Parts: sequence; structure tokens; C-alpha cells
Amino acid sequence: MTAHRAVARVNVAAIERNCARLRDELKGSAELCVVVKADGYGHGAVRSAHAALAGGASWLAVATASEAQELREAGLRDVRVLVMGALTDGELVQALAADADVVVWSERQVQAVRSAGGGKVHVKLDSGMGRLGTRDPAEASRAVAAARDAEGVELAGVMTHFATADDLDDDGFFAAQLKIFTEWARAVRAEQPQIVVHAANSAATLREQGAHFDMVRCGIAAYGMDPFGEDPVARGLEPALRLSSYAAEVKGYRAGESAGYGRRFVAERDTWLAVLPIGYGDGWRRGCSNNADVLIAGRRYPVVGTVSMDNLTVDLGPDAPDELLGEEAVLIGAAAAARSDGQRAERITAEEVARRLDTINYEVTCALTPRVPRVYHRDGQPL
Ligand SMILES: Cc1ncc(COP(=O)(O)O)c(C=O)c1O
Repeated sequence: MTAHRAVARVNVAAIERNCARLRDELKGSAELCVVVKADGYGHGAVRSAHAALAGGASWLAVATASEAQELREAGLRDVRVLVMGALTDGELVQALAADADVVVWSERQVQAVRSAGGGKVHVKLDSGMGRLGTRDPAEASRAVAAARDAEGVELAGVMTHFATADDLDDDGFFAAQLKIFTEWARAVRAEQPQIVVHAANSAATLREQGAHFDMVRCGIAAYGMDPFGEDPVARGLEPALRLSSYAAEVKGYRAGESAGYGRRFVAERDTWLAVLPIGYGDGWRRGCSNNADVLIAGRRYPVVGTVSMDNLTVDLGPDAPDELLGEEAVLIGAAAAARSDGQRAERITAEEVARRLDTINYEVTCALTPRVPRVYHRDGQPL
């Protein structure tokens, strides 16, 4: 019997190793900024931040002012924190009070930073993402000049963000963005040599050294998930999160009997089902109804019927061994037991779950709700 109805175990050593692996990839003296927004992509922001720094990161990035504040309040004081998202006036004050760097792209925004007491800014050129930042290099350059001149404001960096770094068949869009940004950043740097130039997310970092500049901003790869949606192990990444529940009930079903809301599973033959006390209230999406596998005692079994808020059902087949009651069930991660034949243990990746749900691995771990305790360890040693 496991200690938790549902639990996400996070191996901080895996995050450290993934960061060290990313650092090894970097060109020259480029620095590693690890993105810990959205509670560290569901892994826990503060623990992930500590692991990232231990793995060689020298900056952290978040999306919101309150995320920056959370890091500071948790004692992460001696590290640069970049808030990448848009900020209301109140959030700008909060971000600056947390001694975070903020992103701007207009003279008006630079003046807002000055009025809020000053701080470090990064000017964002929208080279093709089509979201935050200005598309106009001249406007971005005016923001640079304003930041240089405004009292209390420090021009800390210039940046952009790629729209298609994870798509290797993007008809040259990534290369075109890189060219636009490189030319503009080169001109800014000629006058402001101290700035930190940064552009690459995980995919761009792994794909193109020419995008590394002075710093890369990696999120997904730091957690050991693959930015291209493939098997992370193939790129030397190690998934840090393992999601598990347990077989809280095992019972027999006669052919024709059903399980769950809407009777979306009706037994075609006599069989055994396990009930796992985990559901969409935990972030295990309802889209997994009849559409996912779990590992119990090292073997794959299909999720059958509707995933409800607190439970789901798994078909163990007609010959299920009765000792499966109380057994751990792995929804993301590797089976606990090594195989006796020396083969790699069966595993379920966030990428596999994402493919079944027609989404991306990012959403799979971000979706896990606070109801799922995060339990931290270092290669199996409890923290
Ligand atoms: C501006 C910015 N930079 C970097 C990242 C990190 O991206 P990834 O998790 O793909 O490495 C993100 C995440 O969405 C982002 O919004």
C-alpha cells in the first residue's frame, strides 16, 4: 500500500543533471537561465530553482510578478530573476520590489519603470512570435535609448522569443527570426556592450548554437521533457517527475457490466478492473478516458471508461493476479521494479500522454493540481 492516493515524486538530481547537460551544450560563455514559471512547469518552482542553480543555471525566469516574489520570499535572493510576462502597473511595482528584471518594448513602459522607482529592463523585439514585444526595430531601439537615459533605469538586456524553434520543418521561419534579431541585437550591442542578449528556449538551445548569444532561457528541457515532443532520453534528458496512484479497489466484472459515468466502458468479456483514486481534480485529464495506459507491477494496462474528478478505472484483464490490490500504479514515469531480463523498465512519458491527448508535454505536467502532493528526492533519497 502506498502512502499517498496520488503523488508526484520529483527527482531534484534529474533537474540538476538536465541543467548540467544544457550547460554543456552552450556556446562560449553563454549562461543558462532556467524558466520556473507555472510552479516550475508543475514540478514546484522553489525546489526546481534550487536544483537548476545547483546544476549550473545563473538566472531564473518566471512569467508573473507574484512568481518572482515567491522565489525571493523562499530565500532565493542572490540570483537574477527575469519576469518575462506583461505587467499591470501594480504588478510592475511588485516585480521591481522583488528586485526582478522586467521586459519592456516602448518608451512609455520605460517611463513606467522609472516612475515606479527604477529597475533593470530587457527590451523585447518581436521578431516573429507575434505576441509581446514590438515588431518595429526602430521602436525597440527608441526603448533602448530611453532605458539608457532614464534615471534609475538600467538597460540590462535585449531579447526575442521564437515561434517555431520546436518545428524542424518550419520553412525557414526560425532562421528568419534569428536573422532579424541578430542584426538588431548586433547594432544595440555596438553601443551598449554590457547588455545580455538572449533569445533561445529549450528547442532553440538544442537546435542552433547561433541562437545562444549571451544566455539561453530553458524551461521544458530542464525538467527532462523533450521540447520536440519526442523521447527525452534520446536527447540525453531525464524526466524529473513521476506521477503515481494505487489500486484502491480491484473487482471482477461480468461481460456486459459497465464502469464509470456514461457507461463508456462495458466489459466485452469477464474481466478485472482496478480503481485508481486519481482524476481530473488532480490534473489527470478527462481526455484520458479510454485513452491512456498505466503501469502496475511493471506491466502496462489500459485506462478504460470515463476519467472522473477523483477516480479512474483500469482493465487488468481476465487473469489479473489478486495481489494487485494496493499496488502502486504509475501514470507518468518508469515502473519501479527493474526487469529480470535486464531490459529497460517499461515507462510512460509525459510526451506519450500528450500525444494521446493531442497536446504538448508542457500541459501534462502544468495541469497537475495542488491536490497532488509533490514529494522531493535525490535519486531516491528523501529530502
Ligand atoms: C519568453 C519565454 N522564454 C523562454 C521560455 C522557455 O521555453 P521552453 O520551456 O520551451 O524552454 C518560455 C516558455 O514558454 C517563454 O515564454
